[in-house]
Amino acid sequence: MLNKNILIGVTGGIAAYKVVEVASRLKKLGANVRVMMTRHAAEFVAPRTFQEITGNAVSVEMFGDAANFHVAHIALADFADAILIAPATANFLGKAAHGIADDLLTTTILASDKPLIVAPAMNTKMFAHPATQDNLRILRARGVKILEPATGELACGTSGKGRLPEPVEICAAVEKIFAAGTLTGKRVLVTAGGTVEAIDPVRYIGNRSSGRMGFAIAQAALNAGADVVLISGKSDLAPPKNLTFVKVESATQMREAVLKHFDSVDAVIMSAAVADYRVKNPAAQKIKKSADTLTLELVKNPDILRELGGLKTSQVLVGFAAETQNILEYAGKKLVEKNLDFIVANDVTAAGAGFGVATNIASIIWRGGNVENFPMMSKDDLAVKIVERVAELLGGRKFFPSN
Ligand code: C5P
Repeated sequence: MLNKNILIGVTGGIAAYKVVEVASRLKKLGANVRVMMTRHAAEFVAPRTFQEITGNAVSVEMFGDAANFHVAHIALADFADAILIAPATANFLGKAAHGIADDLLTTTILASDKPLIVAPAMNTKMFAHPATQDNLRILRARGVKILEPATGELACGTSGKGRLPEPVEICAAVEKIFAAGTLTGKRVLVTAGGTVEAIDPVRYIGNRSSGRMGFAIAQAALNAGADVVLISGKSDLAPPKNLTFVKVESATQMREAVLKHFDSVDAVIMSAAVADYRVKNPAAQKIKKSADTLTLELVKNPDILRELGGLKTSQVLVGFAAETQNILEYAGKKLVEKNLDFIVANDVTAAGAGFGVATNIASIIWRGGNVENFPMMSKDDLAVKIVERVAELLGGRKFFPSN
């Protein structure tokens, strides 16, 4: 936390007094702390308390009390490496979710693109209210880190979920934002989804890939601190935020996009289901129904991963093998032919594995023939395993000794 600039926004809940300790702890951890408060918050704790604790002027009013700043909300937003809102009232969550900026605090968060951590605290019924829950969903989907309220005695005399988490926990969540991940400073290219090969302007040849595995890998790599380029064929999923997203259709386009980024990345995880063949001469106009049979001539697509295997300098290369039979044998062969570091093999016909489902049953095959067999697990968890191994390889150590 040393020299990190943390802006704390205090909104009008009784738990505001606990945030004095949060500010104090963050300061002791080495952070520069500034506090902004809503007018209601200033009814609970005097701004002067935060001022004494942080050694910085506390801002409440949009106009007036921030004489040091040229444009107060912009100055505060620019100062922050991260913003923490604690306690966050239901009113604040509603305003933040909908972009309402009617005071200094809500205006400042709109003027910032830095990580936002929100610690809601309120009466149990207010927290459980569908409006509050909807607002939390909106914020979460926008990448805001929401800290779960604790359960226990509440100031209103009831007991339930809605307490502000302990100051230590809040500070730990703020610290985590700045913690270096296993892939911090590394660039990772992930491909996902299935390619689409045009037959005519209307029809195509596709496959059953949903993109879930690749999107989960992209997210896991992001969580590990990597800069991520996600190149995706057909998928209905919304891409994770904070990465470079490239949408492609055909294998040819995917190849171009992958080659464009290859030199600048440290690892490629090729989980896309790339079509092996494309239509030789896609029709310029919609093919009319006439003869009883229709023959399409197909030509082989470039094997992108094999090409990367030939070009590879220091990059870690990971492939996938979705098979329906002789899985380990086929996957092991691909591993060698495509010059990969490891390959993730799965039987796409097994229940709980393969296309469209949220789980997978996979094995990782390493050069030298070692095999790790994983039980059925969510694609998110498998993604973490894959990313861990890539990180170990990039760190120069083998996660799983190959001999
Ligand atoms: O040889 P096969 O297509 O079964 O190999 C699968 C692996 O190779 C996957 O990682 C897939 O993304 C990649 N692949 C590729 N280019 C192709 C076909 C597959 O990079 N044309």
